[in-house]
Amino acid sequence: MAETSHVDYSTKIPNNVGLMDDQRVLKALEQWHPGYIDWWMTMGPEGFQTSDVYLRTAISIDPKGWAKFDYVKMPEYRWGILLAPRDEERKVSFGAHKGEKAWQEVPGEYRAMLRRLIVVQGDTEPASVEQQRHLGKTAPSLYDMRNLFQVNVEEGRHLWAMVYLLHKYFGKDGREEAEQLLQRRSGDVDKPRMLGAFNEATPDWLSFFMFTFFTDRDGKMQLESLAQSGFDPLSRTCRFMLTEEAHHMFVGETGVGRAIERTCQAMKEAGIEDPYDVAAVRRLGVIDLPTIQKKANLHFTLSLDLFGSEVSTNAANYYNSGLKGRFQETRVEDDHVLTSVTYPVLKLVDSEIRMVEEPALTAINMRLRDDYVKDCQGGVSRWNKVIEKAGVKFALKLPSVAFHRHIGEFRNIEASPDGQLLSQGEWEKSKDQWLPSKEDGDYIESLMQPCWERGKFASWIAPPKVGIDNKPGDFEYVKIHNG
Ligand SMILES: [Fe+2]
Ligand SMILES: [Fe+2]
Repeated sequence: MAETSHVDYSTKIPNNVGLMDDQRVLKALEQWHPGYIDWWMTMGPEGFQTSDVYLRTAISIDPKGWAKFDYVKMPEYRWGILLAPRDEERKVSFGAHKGEKAWQEVPGEYRAMLRRLIVVQGDTEPASVEQQRHLGKTAPSLYDMRNLFQVNVEEGRHLWAMVYLLHKYFGKDGREEAEQLLQRRSGDVDKPRMLGAFNEATPDWLSFFMFTFFTDRDGKMQLESLAQSGFDPLSRTCRFMLTEEAHHMFVGETGVGRAIERTCQAMKEAGIEDPYDVAAVRRLGVIDLPTIQKKANLHFTLSLDLFGSEVSTNAANYYNSGLKGRFQETRVEDDHVLTSVTYPVLKLVDSEIRMVEEPALTAINMRLRDDYVKDCQGGVSRWNKVIEKAGVKFALKLPSVAFHRHIGEFRNIEASPDGQLLSQGEWEKSKDQWLPSKEDGDYIESLMQPCWERGKFASWIAPPKVGIDNKPGDFEYVKIHNG
């Protein structure tokens, strides 16, 4: 791999963990690096590895100047290892060890649990790159193509972040896990990625935007709760990752928002009042709002599954051990021990969907998922503002958490998006109204025509309000062909 042979580790891995003085970890990472590049070249963005992409690279942890923008060929991206600054006074803020000094080394008794948490998080990072690798070819603009690649290289960096922790703190089994992270493949029958949503296809750009809105947002919630960890290096790692994750949320929310905006605009221009007149809307070369709703239904429910079972002893153990907290743990007003309180959980009781009080410790997943749903709802409301402003009578809605589930309380039943229990027959009859059908997929695919002219956008999506790094509308975010 000629492009990368000149990589100089003493300058090429930006890091604030004193890597140069840590020969053991440096050597382990050097040994891991060629496999990573190999993975990136075979499983990373297909067809654009020699293009110059206007990317942001994390170079510092100073909130005011942590990144710089420049043209970079992706395989030469500087995947650095950056941790948020250490707070010498930091304490474990929840669970049985509440009040103890935060741990700088792995507590022996929690080693296996902690490794598992890091590996599961780490596995999602390369998975999404694999899922998105074909999308460059059908990018609706250079701006969007650049955003895709930005998300991809940052997920690559997030893999580095987890691999650093494995190498630094988990010895031989850490090295083996790091190796495995390069071996599994999204959607592979024999060696799939660890979590369901990360083995699903991302066939088109609307899926990509929905994925970054819904599934990266699960990632954000997981990182938020790991950022609370009593194991300080994990906390510091996740806190820095969250600064990058914010951009992924932005890409998803504005991507869907721009598709909605373009649809409403085209409907208005054509004088179409009925958003359910799908055939008429599709003749305009835009994505009808009911199909956008179906895509949201799909990605929301796949992402809900990522939170695991509503009631879970594993989650209780992670919390009680001080390894994984709640969303914004330190801002929650309670005892942060949770041994004597309950939390309401939506459950299936006697074939009915009912709210049941469960011990708060075992309901930790449910609580994180509730916080997630609130966060999603914020974005959906902002999308609805776009529709409202255009004067179209339609509102997007998050479906019931009982709808289309494969994990947890509702995995064995079928329910409608408004939470009515259904027989198998009723479900089969109606599911194409609620989830993207083959026909919907074919239509969206027909719109996925590349639009790579500077400042131009595909028929189905509106331009962004502002450019990346304040660049003008016709900025060449990706120089596809270079000499
Ligand atoms: Fe990530
Ligand atoms: Fe992300």
